[in-house]
Amino acid sequence: MRCADGLLQRAQVLSARGGPSMIPFNKPYMTGRELAYISRAHENSHLSGDGEFTSRCSHWLEQRTGVPRALLTHSCTAALEIAAMLLDLAPGDEVILPSYTFASTANAFALRGATPVFVDIRPDTLNLDERLVEAAITPRTRVIAVVHYAGVAAEMDALLEIANRHSLPVVEDAAQGLMSLYKGRALGSLGSYGTLSFHETKNIYCGEGGALLIRDAATIARAEIVREKGTDRSRFLRGEVDKYTWVDIGSSYVPGELLAAFLHAQMEQAEEITARRLAIWNAYHDAFRDLEQREIVRRPAVPDECRHNAHLYYLLVRDSGERARVLAELKQRGVGALFHYVPLHSSPAGRRLGRCATSMRVTDDASGRLIRLPIWLGLEPHQHEVIEKVRTTVVRA
Ligand SMILES: Cc1ncc(COP(=O)(O)O)c(C=O)c1O
Repeated sequence: MRCADGLLQRAQVLSARGGPSMIPFNKPYMTGRELAYISRAHENSHLSGDGEFTSRCSHWLEQRTGVPRALLTHSCTAALEIAAMLLDLAPGDEVILPSYTFASTANAFALRGATPVFVDIRPDTLNLDERLVEAAITPRTRVIAVVHYAGVAAEMDALLEIANRHSLPVVEDAAQGLMSLYKGRALGSLGSYGTLSFHETKNIYCGEGGALLIRDAATIARAEIVREKGTDRSRFLRGEVDKYTWVDIGSSYVPGELLAAFLHAQMEQAEEITARRLAIWNAYHDAFRDLEQREIVRRPAVPDECRHNAHLYYLLVRDSGERARVLAELKQRGVGALFHYVPLHSSPAGRRLGRCATSMRVTDDASGRLIRLPIWLGLEPHQHEVIEKVRTTVVRA
């Protein structure tokens, strides 16, 4: 089974990139300003981090999300690791999180020796099921880590209420959530810390990149230290101290200016990018309505209080056997459709380092039936072809 998963995963990577006649799963979009800004970063003769473009990106994020401080990092993974250090997690501590997520959500806490405690997801949004969280809290629980799958918010009011009642911080893994809102508030700005990804597969990207959003102003100074190899170099660069030194644990999490220059060009067009993605998402959603009514597929659910960013469009087919047939046929017909997370509780590291606090019924079921469809800027003229091929394939499967 694990071997089959591995093969499927390798086949996925190939079909995601696409061959000559393949409609790929993802195609990075260039706004047209990236190279000009990279060139300006070069002219600035400041290629290490925290120069003009890093500062522009941070301010943009702070304005968009409303947090007092946003720190650029190499990845969402790096931002999660910083959050785990700021929370002073130690061996024996427990972190509640969904199993239906990327490895980094758990790994950042496991690196500190904490135990990932998996809780099942909701059948509608595939986000952490807030109704199961309270029963999973033990005297060792230190953090609740929430993931906003597909850029659709988890039930944050209920989750924050439980966290407050137990005096637990919430970390929002908003890797997929830039430009999404929950009750008008930006994802990543609701918990103590929010983490974003600018990986090539994300709506706004720079290849590899991320950010830590910090809501509590009192922890900004320490976050800067953790991000700068445990030193107070950020204060030194601002002229607040006359030399810098090692003051705490930390690591190297500052991305260089070339990446920030690229990212800045993307951020400038974030509204247009999101609007175009939403148009593609909505076209899929309309095209598959009747298949949902006929109970052939289940479409994504977006609660009324969520404004999403069209990060992913997925369908749930009837069972995992059907999913394998549909993916194989779509690949053969030139459509780069993919499955998504292999649940962490069933992964080798998840089994070794974590434990399940609930049944994983919904996680196992949904992860086995989910298919992600191509969504990228430039897909528009090919989308009717994808829709037609998906429709005929799932009806036959
Ligand atoms: C929920 C989630 N968290 C974290 C990550 C890791 O992001 P990065 O590649 O920026 O480290 C991903 C990657 O897609 C993700 O889906």
